[in-house]
Amino acid sequence: MLAIQDYAQLSDAEAEARIVAAKEKLGERLVILGHHYQREEVFRHADFSGDSLKLSRQAADSSAEYIVFCGVHFMAEVADILSSDEQIAILPDMGAGCSMADMANLANVERAWRELAEVLEPDESVTPVTYINSAADLKAFCGRHGGIVCTSTNAQKVLEWSFSQREKVLFFPDQHLGRNTGYKMGIPLEEMVVWDFDEPMGGLTPEQIKNAKIILWKGFCSVHQMFKPEQIDAFKAKYPEAKIIAHPEAPFEVCQKSDYVGSTEYIIKTIRDAEPNTRWLVGTELNLVNRLAKQFKDEGKHVHFMSPTVCMCSTMFRIDPQHLAWVLDNLVEGNVVNQIKVEPKEAEEAKLALERMLEVSP
Ligand code: 13P
Ligand code: SF4
Repeated sequence: MLAIQDYAQLSDAEAEARIVAAKEKLGERLVILGHHYQREEVFRHADFSGDSLKLSRQAADSSAEYIVFCGVHFMAEVADILSSDEQIAILPDMGAGCSMADMANLANVERAWRELAEVLEPDESVTPVTYINSAADLKAFCGRHGGIVCTSTNAQKVLEWSFSQREKVLFFPDQHLGRNTGYKMGIPLEEMVVWDFDEPMGGLTPEQIKNAKIILWKGFCSVHQMFKPEQIDAFKAKYPEAKIIAHPEAPFEVCQKSDYVGSTEYIIKTIRDAEPNTRWLVGTELNLVNRLAKQFKDEGKHVHFMSPTVCMCSTMFRIDPQHLAWVLDNLVEGNVVNQIKVEPKEAEEAKLALERMLEVSP
């Protein structure tokens, strides 16, 4: 087996040459999926790029023997769950997790479910909805309890389905996506309470739980949490004609002040379809914003990053050309390294929740 230590020393150009050669050798046995937040030196090798929903579909539709996911851990898990048993999902660096996904785990979600049972009948009145940014065992929890998965693209459709099943929703781990989507659907802020997983009963009274329509997990994305409404105000003062676009993981006040809110794929499409010579302030991860700025410069589109400080997804950034070259060269040699394999029972239950999502997705 080829060792990562030998690859860590390679320059980007050397790693690039190895990636190109390995792709050539592996041909159709390999598909590389790349999330929009990947750094340029990795992103350019992706056969397909997309947001979480698009890449999930791509994984489900692919017939390649090896699915190398340039993204984060939960994405590779979804690729494993939705692909056939013979296909192999690979994450080039096992350290590429998602700090938001880590804010909910099976122990604290099951505890929340037990505590909710002291006030109501959760399996009759609460649909558990997990954002795709979560571990496979939480998707399995949703599968078992009549729940569903959502992404930033289909969150509204998923919530509509959830309310057609049961009167309330427990939404985890991202409070912002839950709140932004619920509010857009006409649910008042007072009917969305925050479940603090460090507190008994989520820090809520029985009355608050009974009156809530959505119970929002107290999770957030550390990257999108950096965007502030004041940054929009300052930009608008300078460029009143500018358009503001944000990812729904951004806080409520930021999304309220934005002209457009949507997934990474939506952000790209909106700027691509916009008139030339327009100016954009974008509230999402830096690698994507930099790519957009470069891509649309020639059309006279000015694309600016919302935060004055550099905020990148540090876990997405762990996928570097050296790790990609390492996993691909190993595949050429017949070695599978960094396989992501979800345990069969868990995968089956998680698949149920993912399939419910795919069915209601636009
Ligand atoms: P998208 O599905 O919009 O690409 O979002 C994934 C993600 O992790 C954003 O932080
Ligand atoms: Fe997770 Fe945030 Fe990174 Fe997306 S940007 S993968 S939510 S930490």
